[in-house]
Amino acid sequence: MREQLEELKKQALIDLEATQSIDALEEVRVRTLGKKGALTKILRGLGKVSAQERPQLGVLANQIKEAFNQALEAQRSRLKQSALASRLQAEQLDITLPGRERAVGSIHPVTRALDEITTLFTHMGFPPATGPEVESDWYNFEALNIPADHPAREMHDTFYLPPAFDGSKRVLRTHTSSVQVHFMENRKPPIRMIAPGKVFRCDSDVTHTPMFHQVEGILVDEGVHFGQLKGLLEVFLVRFFERELPVRFRPSFFPFTEPSAEADMGCLFCNGKGCRICKNTGWLEILGCGMIHPNVLDNVQIDTELYSGFAFGMGVERLAMLKYGINDLRTFFENDIRFLRQHATVGGE
Ligand code: PHE
Repeated sequence: MREQLEELKKQALIDLEATQSIDALEEVRVRTLGKKGALTKILRGLGKVSAQERPQLGVLANQIKEAFNQALEAQRSRLKQSALASRLQAEQLDITLPGRERAVGSIHPVTRALDEITTLFTHMGFPPATGPEVESDWYNFEALNIPADHPAREMHDTFYLPPAFDGSKRVLRTHTSSVQVHFMENRKPPIRMIAPGKVFRCDSDVTHTPMFHQVEGILVDEGVHFGQLKGLLEVFLVRFFERELPVRFRPSFFPFTEPSAEADMGCLFCNGKGCRICKNTGWLEILGCGMIHPNVLDNVQIDTELYSGFAFGMGVERLAMLKYGINDLRTFFENDIRFLRQHATVGGE
């Protein structure tokens, strides 16, 4: 039995040393010292051994156990060490490699222009208001003094939507002037607001896109006059383009203003001398405006004996093109990443 025990010890130590994993180690332990293991099997024969030899064999069995356990722990820590070492090897971090760049978004030039316009007017006391993009005939046309068969409707290539539940007409708003009506109908003068937003017209060519942006503005109070409108627009344009600019009015027509005008500003590119961009006139058209028509004020229950007001509406894409030097309207909506990068500002200015 002594030889058996010695043999067991020798073999178990060899097996231990050959293990490559903690699992394999556990397997050797169970095979050697487990309840049904080799050692138990040998010790079953102890009963047949002489009483004299028995204690010595017991001592030997214990020594084997101890030696085995020691070798087991040593091997366990070796395995752990080498597992750690190979993990460190595999997860090695090369801090000299160039970093992975993250794609950073930027503000679209139209959004940027909208934000700038909104901020400038807010600072001058015109807070921003919004209205729905899907409008009834009343808000987009009727209330603005554009009756059903008025020829002015043809100026707006309207997108018609299926009628509402009550059978009334619905359109995509063709201008932000509809917001004037929403804003004024629940208020009493003094009234000031601007309405930045999307508008829609069934039109698409080099200078027109079916969706674009406008900023509307109104002021209604006692004694409001055209001179104030001109002053306001001059201050706005000087701040927006960050330089002195002349502004002039040309008579025009809008059903919801009387008198109506189109405002021009001195050409940014030739300082009024005449160039390709201003078609040699020295002026750039920038917005429509006028004194709010009494019919419109009547429609929102504002007393025209007491109050008057002005309104203006400008195209945001046009202002953005002039300010940022963009010469093709369509580039705004193609979302070519090179164009967006070229005009990127991170987190606004
Ligand atoms: N709503 C007009 C347009 O879209 C612009 C405008 C607004 C004109 C306010 C006068 C007053 O063309």
